[in-house]
Amino acid sequence: MSPGDMAKYESLRWRFGEGQGSSALIAMARSKSWFSNLIPRSMNNQSPMKTLSLIAQKGGTGKTTLGIHLAVQAQRQGLRVLLIDTDPQGSAGAWWQRRASAEPTLVTGLGTELAEMQAQARERAFQLVIVDTAPHSSEQSRACAACSDAVLIPTRPAILDLDAIGATTELVADLDLPAQIVLNACPPPIRAHEPRIVAEAREALTAYQVPVCPVAISQRAAYSHALIDGRAVVEFEAQGKAAAEIEALWADIRHGLEL
Ligand SMILES: Nc1ncnc2c1ncn2[C@@H]1O[C@H](COP(=O)(O)OP(=O)(O)OP(=O)(O)O)[C@@H](O)[C@H]1O
Ligand SMILES: [Mg+2]
Repeated sequence: MSPGDMAKYESLRWRFGEGQGSSALIAMARSKSWFSNLIPRSMNNQSPMKTLSLIAQKGGTGKTTLGIHLAVQAQRQGLRVLLIDTDPQGSAGAWWQRRASAEPTLVTGLGTELAEMQAQARERAFQLVIVDTAPHSSEQSRACAACSDAVLIPTRPAILDLDAIGATTELVADLDLPAQIVLNACPPPIRAHEPRIVAEAREALTAYQVPVCPVAISQRAAYSHALIDGRAVVEFEAQGKAAAEIEALWADIRHGLEL
């Protein structure tokens, strides 16, 4: 991260929560402690906590969109979920600030601070940590991956995106981490069949050693519309096709994480 990015990131970090009516985040901003007042430590039940990072060196593949949607879906299924925005762009944080609900909990931090944040999250009985990462930031992404139980690599099915995936698959291979590629922003299925471009992308991705998730996420207006006022598609259009895709994706990931 360049010194300019660092400065921008710091200003975002401590501005977070101010004036938003969230005592937890205001407390966090004042004390510079990530989880002040979220829940008493005495509630710590030592339940195993899992961390899933969304990583792709290429920009715009859907890391933030899918991270937010998975966090909301997991929380709706009863898990205590912490979403960590490690991207200086702060897109997940901006979504959270537009959101009416304070859940899932969201904090910001550097990828290199993730281990410390995880320790605090574990003490406060979070069951799932989802980490949104920045593109083009191999040092920070590597730090996140190194602390994760699993990595999800979103990619669009277009050739330039597929070509760019090698840097991320090498990262997870180096660390010998469970990982899955998920095809995002795909043309929707036609009469329940995957369109050709999706099938071809699956074929092209066999060149990498990372498996491809059986669930593909379609390009649907609902994904971006829902985010406008801080919601996710499962809240915005609970019976819609996008919600069904997110439910299927989360079911697949939950099974993999053994949560
Ligand atoms: N499945 C989808 N359907 C429709 N729009 C989508 C979908 N996934 C992502 N988008 C849109 O594509 C754009 C990029 O998505 P997003 O910000 O989630 O990617 P990202 O990987 O987090 O980007 P960055 O690398 O810049 O952080 C956003 O405008 C988002 O609303
Ligand atoms: Mg993003």
